[in-house]
Amino acid sequence: MRLFEPISLGGVTIPNRIVKSAMAEGQSDASGQALPGLARMYGRWARGGVGLAITGMAHIRPGFSFTDREIGLYRDANVEPLRAVTAAAHEHGGRIFAQLCHAPPQLPRAKAKELGAVAPSGGLCRTNLRWGRALTGDELRRLAKDFGAAARRAREAGFDGVQLHAAHGYLLSRMLSPRDNRRTDRWGGSFEGRLAFLSEVYSEVRRAVGDDYPIIIKLNAHDGLRGGLDIETSLRIARRLEEWGIAAIEVSAGIAEVGLGFFPNRGSIPVESSKEYLGVEFPFLRPVKPVLGPIIRGLSRSVRLREEAYFAPLAERFARAVSVPVICVGGIRTLATASRLVEDTPVAMVSLARPLVRQPGLPRAWQRGESPTAQCTSCNECFVHLGFGQPLKCWNKTA
Ligand SMILES: Cc1cc2nc3c(=O)[nH]c(=O)nc-3n(C[C@H](O)[C@H](O)[C@H](O)COP(=O)(O)O)c2cc1C
Repeated sequence: MRLFEPISLGGVTIPNRIVKSAMAEGQSDASGQALPGLARMYGRWARGGVGLAITGMAHIRPGFSFTDREIGLYRDANVEPLRAVTAAAHEHGGRIFAQLCHAPPQLPRAKAKELGAVAPSGGLCRTNLRWGRALTGDELRRLAKDFGAAARRAREAGFDGVQLHAAHGYLLSRMLSPRDNRRTDRWGGSFEGRLAFLSEVYSEVRRAVGDDYPIIIKLNAHDGLRGGLDIETSLRIARRLEEWGIAAIEVSAGIAEVGLGFFPNRGSIPVESSKEYLGVEFPFLRPVKPVLGPIIRGLSRSVRLREEAYFAPLAERFARAVSVPVICVGGIRTLATASRLVEDTPVAMVSLARPLVRQPGLPRAWQRGESPTAQCTSCNECFVHLGFGQPLKCWNKTA
């Protein structure tokens, strides 16, 4: 079965076509140093048969992580503990890439206040309701260098490649979006201007890791908002990435304010935990807590899409437009769909997130012909709890 055949990404052989998509793990300390649980987690995924595991978003600047428990690649002291993580993945024959991300403007509300809220063009960040100022050109140039330094550390820590996180509304994706990036300097104003930051980041990362090291990207096919990044523009970006030498493109969609932030990971809205944590993030909502449930439930109807592989048509379009491997992510739940995508469409690999939280051994089970349907119900409890500092785990063992 093609799903279990190796594939080369930028010269690195991945033993099969099943990717563990990036998920923040909640297994690092407040300085971003890996805790022992992180190596155990990646050991389980590799033992479970994942060909390529992509880490959760690693921050490239001190403090700029979405939660306080994410991998930090902003300083050399964090390299050594990560060697145990890459070794655990390699011991079982898997490959592991580090995802690099700069989270603003999507920082939790308190962090945005502490660190200073910034955005491509300033204005209101619709996810934390903080007013941010525009980043300066010098700051963007320094950030690109920080991406490069983080990639160098990833290589030193034994990662087999890096993934740039240019999806879901973090800085790289918002710089590409005409809705968020309304700058008139060299970092905006036109297709080329909006691409300039990604181009600078790619160049710095390439310079830091050398030509023989895979750089892949998670790219939004569209933002899901009027005036945001659209598919035609994203396809143009993908072609440009191919010219630069990107080793693979993972196609996702949506930014945080679409569908209450559950657009890239569609499923149910966990009403109780969302209600609880919204009161923590936005204390002014506490008095209206009793009515939050019905409101959240009502709003969540827009994301209650349960079709499998909901981004597959997008991924197929990208795979027809470029010749580098395209990875399809989003709602893949059955062996039949995973193998259909790599056998019958131009998509090269499939990427799973939530099902592998519940069943780290799912790829091996699929290979043995067992458990053809993942047990994950896309309840999204893992997502909400993680966002508030809990380690990544399945909270829905009874479903
Ligand atoms: C708990 C959790 C954490 C996530 N963290 C990240 C992340 O750090 N980086 C990223 O690109 N996507 C992140 N995602 C999105 C997933 O990588 C994936 O795109 C999405 O969940 C859809 O795939 P699935 O249906 O197989 O879960 C996260 C999703 C979940 C559920």
